[in-house]
Amino acid sequence: MEFSVKSGSPEKQRSACIVVGVFEPRRLSGTAEQLDEISEGYISNLLRKGDLEGKSGQMLLLHHVPNILSERVLLVGCGKERELDERQYRQIITKTINTLNETGSMEAVCFLSELHVKGRDIYWKVRQAVEAAQDALYSFDSLKTRIAEPRRPLRKVVFNVPTRRELPIGERAVAHALAIAEGITTCKNVANMPPNICNPAYLAEQAKILDSDYEKVTTTIVGEKEMEELGMGSYLAVGRGSVNESLMSIIKYDGAGDDSKPLVLVGKGLTFDSGGISLKPGLGMDEMKYDMGGAAGVLGAMHALAELNLSINVIGVLAGCENMPSSNAYRPGDILTTMSGQTVEVLNTDAEGRLVLCDALTYVERFNPDAVIDVATLTGACVVALGAHATGLLSSHNPLAHELLNASEQSGDRAWRLPLWDDYQDQLESPFADFTNLGGKEAGTITAACFLSKFTKKYNWAHLDIAGTAWRSGKNKGATGRPVSMLTQFLLNRAGQEQGE
Ligand code: BES
Ligand code: MN
Ligand code: ZN
Repeated sequence: MEFSVKSGSPEKQRSACIVVGVFEPRRLSGTAEQLDEISEGYISNLLRKGDLEGKSGQMLLLHHVPNILSERVLLVGCGKERELDERQYRQIITKTINTLNETGSMEAVCFLSELHVKGRDIYWKVRQAVEAAQDALYSFDSLKTRIAEPRRPLRKVVFNVPTRRELPIGERAVAHALAIAEGITTCKNVANMPPNICNPAYLAEQAKILDSDYEKVTTTIVGEKEMEELGMGSYLAVGRGSVNESLMSIIKYDGAGDDSKPLVLVGKGLTFDSGGISLKPGLGMDEMKYDMGGAAGVLGAMHALAELNLSINVIGVLAGCENMPSSNAYRPGDILTTMSGQTVEVLNTDAEGRLVLCDALTYVERFNPDAVIDVATLTGACVVALGAHATGLLSSHNPLAHELLNASEQSGDRAWRLPLWDDYQDQLESPFADFTNLGGKEAGTITAACFLSKFTKKYNWAHLDIAGTAWRSGKNKGATGRPVSMLTQFLLNRAGQEQGE
């Protein structure tokens, strides 16, 4: 898909379709008003007859509007003008793109980017529109042998900005959005890939592809032999029941030279989590292919970063592993020695994410990181606490937590902070080892983060639990691409490019 910005009046556009907003009740937006005048009241006439109320998401496609150069006019209901918020704006764009794609317009000029959205500027509106459009047009069909393609698919959308002065800012918004959308697509593609194809070796291959595609990226792979030498007993234990070798990919992006401390992103990469000997129930177990969603998110953010060519140093780590039952698998009762030297009593082999992450988090100490953020589909408890709407954020470092919350607010990729008080640490006590990998039934998301906090004392650290946000279940099952946009926004902010300058 091609996106661009321009500044012009609606009646002068010669396009397959122009898209303008109508508010509730039957009130024309500024651009719709202009079209109405030139068409001698054609549109207001239709509204008077009751063809469109203006409710959010309503669509009315018109052909041959008098005196209009474009073939079609798509009227889009935007709800009450004063109530147009971020979520509605994105939903309206999504519906618009789907309608355009299904009704034969191969290109369109869209004036919805000019609507007033509370507290948001033109940069935000254009960027969100492009991201929402790319999201709407995504489908995972590389493994289908029969694909229903629209006959005349949408190929090009131009978003209008109010004046020529806003063109550079709009162009920048498009560029940022396209880079982020590319990262999101990468994330979705690997996350949706089935676990018989997407195993740890496949994850490592994807990490290598970034290396070959971008000058500033260098990828190295740590295999089981090296993990053995490093003493990563906990990570190795989780993968032991699987015939697929555990592989940890290290993706280095060098954008700022040697003397700038890197940001480190660590993703949980369980390409399948059966639960191991503490086997999960069968219902919905297929969705545990998404247990590498953290690694997919890190890969996607690294892709977006490389595409944006930012002047910062970032290292992405994909902690690839498969958790399977086998006669060789680790078991409840086992005591593992982690790379940090601390010992862990395994009480449940399904609490495996923290066991993989803890060694990856110790491993990254060697990079002398400025900050470390881990991303993981870590706990079912997070889905209970926050549902599918917000990513759980836990951090022992307030400034880093606030930076991430800011980035989530800016990008619309929501996160909500949960406490990480020492009070919860007691739940991990073990009679036989330094601690257990199980915190009991209360506050599961927090105790999982408490576990990780025992391995992150040497740097500033934050943890994102994306168990509820990384994929959708049900009829529209599929990866969401979250939290690529939050992470990339964080990186943009760090590189000092948060705005349209
Ligand atoms: N990958 C799961 C967490 C998960 C479950 C994410 C469902 C999304 C949906 C994780 O490895 C796990 O199994 N966690 C256990 C932890 C428990 C045994 C302490 C859980 O949440 O039930
Ligand atoms: Mn598990
Ligand atoms: Zn898991």
